[in-house]
Amino acid sequence: MRAACAPAGCTLRGVRSPPRPPPAPVGLRVHLRDLVSTLGLVWEASPGRTAAIVALSLVQAGLPAANMWVAKLLLDAVAAAVSGAAGGADEAYRRLLALLGVQVAVVAVGSVVGIVQGANRELLGDTLQNRISRRILAKAGELELAQFEDAAVYDSLQNAYREVGSRPLGVFSQVLTLGQSLVTLGSVSALMTQLGWAVVPLVLLASVPAVWVQSRFGTEGYRMIRRQAQDARKQNYLGSLLTNDQAVKEIRLFGFGDYLMERWQQYYLGFRAQLASLIRRRSGWGLAASLASTGLVGGATAVVLRRAAAGGITVGDFGLFIQGISQLQQQFSNLLSGISGIYQNLLYMRNLYEFLELPTTGHDEGETWVGPIESIELQGVHFRYPLTDRDVLVDVNVKVRKGETLALVGENGAGKSTLVKLITFLYRPTAGRILVNGMDASRFSPSSLRAEMSTVFQDFGQYQMTVRENIALGNVNAAADDAAVQAAAERAGAAEFIEALPERYDNMLGRWFEGGRQLSGGQWQRLALARLYFRGGSVLIFDEPTSALDADAEFEVIETLRAHARGRITIIVSHRFSTVRMAERIVVLQRGRVIEQGNHDELLAMNGVYARMFLRQARGYLEGYDELEPEVG
Ligand SMILES: Nc1ncnc2c1ncn2[C@@H]1O[C@H](COP(=O)(O)OP(=O)(O)O)[C@@H](O)[C@H]1O
Ligand SMILES: [Mg+2]
Repeated sequence: MRAACAPAGCTLRGVRSPPRPPPAPVGLRVHLRDLVSTLGLVWEASPGRTAAIVALSLVQAGLPAANMWVAKLLLDAVAAAVSGAAGGADEAYRRLLALLGVQVAVVAVGSVVGIVQGANRELLGDTLQNRISRRILAKAGELELAQFEDAAVYDSLQNAYREVGSRPLGVFSQVLTLGQSLVTLGSVSALMTQLGWAVVPLVLLASVPAVWVQSRFGTEGYRMIRRQAQDARKQNYLGSLLTNDQAVKEIRLFGFGDYLMERWQQYYLGFRAQLASLIRRRSGWGLAASLASTGLVGGATAVVLRRAAAGGITVGDFGLFIQGISQLQQQFSNLLSGISGIYQNLLYMRNLYEFLELPTTGHDEGETWVGPIESIELQGVHFRYPLTDRDVLVDVNVKVRKGETLALVGENGAGKSTLVKLITFLYRPTAGRILVNGMDASRFSPSSLRAEMSTVFQDFGQYQMTVRENIALGNVNAAADDAAVQAAAERAGAAEFIEALPERYDNMLGRWFEGGRQLSGGQWQRLALARLYFRGGSVLIFDEPTSALDADAEFEVIETLRAHARGRITIIVSHRFSTVRMAERIVVLQRGRVIEQGNHDELLAMNGVYARMFLRQARGYLEGYDELEPEVG
């Protein structure tokens, strides 16, 4: 995720939009459906392992009752031997040894099965985690840009990616434990009921309060975390600013480190107050539950003791009772907490399914575009960003043909970058249409159209990878072609500084990883340009080279680009008229509208906004250089 955004470009998403209400509780039907899908997920991940785990669970379920029964027989045999009722010493000893053998066998089976189960579970969990992460990452790749910018979708992606990994195994394990507990509970209860009908209900009842407390506060804890998601993200952002190599310069210079720290701490204090309240209430209720439970177990014991006093049970029976109490309580609490655990894990799984069920139109839907793009025409294009209430582009009509350079000019916020995003099919127009070679582009799959395009975005990526990767990402299918990588670097004017790096093309970039070199803004931009050249395509787009290049460098970059661009479509967004004036077609945008359009001479002749902007810049350059004959005439 993180490598996809330039370090300085990681903005706090979603803060723009108002906080959302927590998701509506979903019905039992949905939970059951999710339960089935989750178990299906586990089964698909590894049918053999899953079957083995289920089979061994059944063995485990029978063990406690077997254990208790052998222990009871042993106790009775010991009692008989002690009282001399078991015949001769040798005979009694043989009988005791036989019982001991059975008991040892039962314990041995239990530990072998336990170890095999543990190993199986761990491996299954690992497989599952990988499969789910892959599904989430694949889904993220299908989302539209607009969905990424929607805070709710972004939240749900983050939640899914962060929290979901271990949940399906949790659901599966809990379903198993549930079944296992039922079997154990049944068999142990059958043994205990012989001691009196009230014993089992009393002991079971004693487990209820503790389980109730656990489940109630478990759910509350989940809700709390979900409620805090927005604020936690803001806090994380503040933390990331404080630990980010790009931000540190401004933080030091403007001295707002303490301010960030203070705000970070405020969020923590808010979370802390909620956590403390939760813990206080949970402890209070836990105490009450444990007292109630002790009383009920005392009652059950009294029932059994009364029968013992009347000589109605053996010593072995009493031993069975003592062991049985803890078994029943444990199994019953397993049972109930299993149910609430499944419920909680299903809430997390709902996050995942919600995310996976998000509608996507699919970048690959539609006809596949093949061949070069020879013209792009925008007809009456309007655009509004999702969740905003203002059109950023209004009735834009522009056409550019192969061999032409289209320059977009206009003030900051005029909509130039947005237009680039529409032309690269990252967004769809809200109204109007885009024609490619005269055909409606919406017929074709965006990804196949994009295969013909190469772009340096205004917020181009600075990937914390090697130089070679930074260039080869432009066309991963050709990544092995070293000569092409170097040619692209040369054309972009990046070869010189790359050769000066200790490990040249294998040098790591950025500061996150060992051996990484931080580059200057202009150097990063030349790498982005090399990426563009490496990719090629019939449409080349360069959004605001000025952001990091000086005027000379920009001129050189654009000249190379234009030389390279013969027979292609070139689109340039720039504030520098030295660059802009060379374009065959110049489009002046103002607040989302095209107000002037034509070539440099035509626009000057129009004596409108373009002419005014051009002359202002030219005059700025020429101030004090009167002796020079201005090229502006
Ligand atoms: N992702 C976005 N969501 C909402 N509004 C946006 C987004 N990106 C840009 N805008 C708004 O769209 C307008 C045009 O932005 P942009 O196309 O980046 O302008 P330019 O590149 O000409 O400086 C601006 O008002 C900006 O605030
Ligand atoms: Mg822009």
